[in-house]
Amino acid sequence: MHAQRRPFVGGNWKMNSDLASGVELTDAVLASLAEGGLEGRIDAAVFPPFPYLFTVGRTLGHSNVLLGGQDCSAEASGAFTGQVSVGMLADVGCRSVIIGHSERRHGLGEDDELLHEKLAIASEAGLVAVLCVGETLSERDDGRAEAVVAHQMRGCFGTLKPETVDRVVVAYEPVWAIGTGRTASPEDAQRMHSSIRAVLGQLYDSRFAAKARVIYGGSVNAKNARAIFDQPDVDGGLIGGASLKADDFASICRAAAEAWTASGGH
Ligand code: 13P
Repeated sequence: MHAQRRPFVGGNWKMNSDLASGVELTDAVLASLAEGGLEGRIDAAVFPPFPYLFTVGRTLGHSNVLLGGQDCSAEASGAFTGQVSVGMLADVGCRSVIIGHSERRHGLGEDDELLHEKLAIASEAGLVAVLCVGETLSERDDGRAEAVVAHQMRGCFGTLKPETVDRVVVAYEPVWAIGTGRTASPEDAQRMHSSIRAVLGQLYDSRFAAKARVIYGGSVNAKNARAIFDQPDVDGGLIGGASLKADDFASICRAAAEAWTASGGH
């Protein structure tokens, strides 16, 4: 953590939960965050499946926890069966959206060109866009991890202006660490986060890069979160499995708040 950047911790529920358990989880997350005095100390967000957004948003009420979609269309409206626009997300109370999760890049073939368009439309709509980048295991084994991620960054940001993307959060999610129980070591995460920040510096300038939040995702849990968050260029996490348990998610939020306080943030 760095004192200059407020932590961001998101819970990506993926295609899990049902309506009743999603509401229960939301209530429990709110209670755990309140109990730990955490709400307001960090930016926390939940990303439920589309059909539950409205109801989960109602459950969040006026809390500071952001509601977000797991994806958005690159189009504003029209004949795009099955897609969800940023306007629709905003309409049901979303203030954030995940873009380019590896389960969409690799599972559904989304490429940087498409993700660039999604990043543009989401940013212009005023949403906090959480842009995911990350290498596969074979790319890491070939020593190409940093080059692959830099290429994704350049392709996704492209020509977008700094004022358009000033709310973007970059999530470094190494594909081999997602849902595998295997995390990047804190040192490897730090190295990649610092390299991502360097790319932001080249794309924009050092002030923009110093302000931008770069969070880590991939098998983060209540036990390993603090060591990762203690790295100076790690500004929080995008949490999958552990976000489905309110106590674990709140513990990870607490680890972020404590790491930030330890770095001098408040
Ligand atoms: P896990 O925390 O389950 O590894 O998932 C990480 C992730 O993909 C968050 O977007």
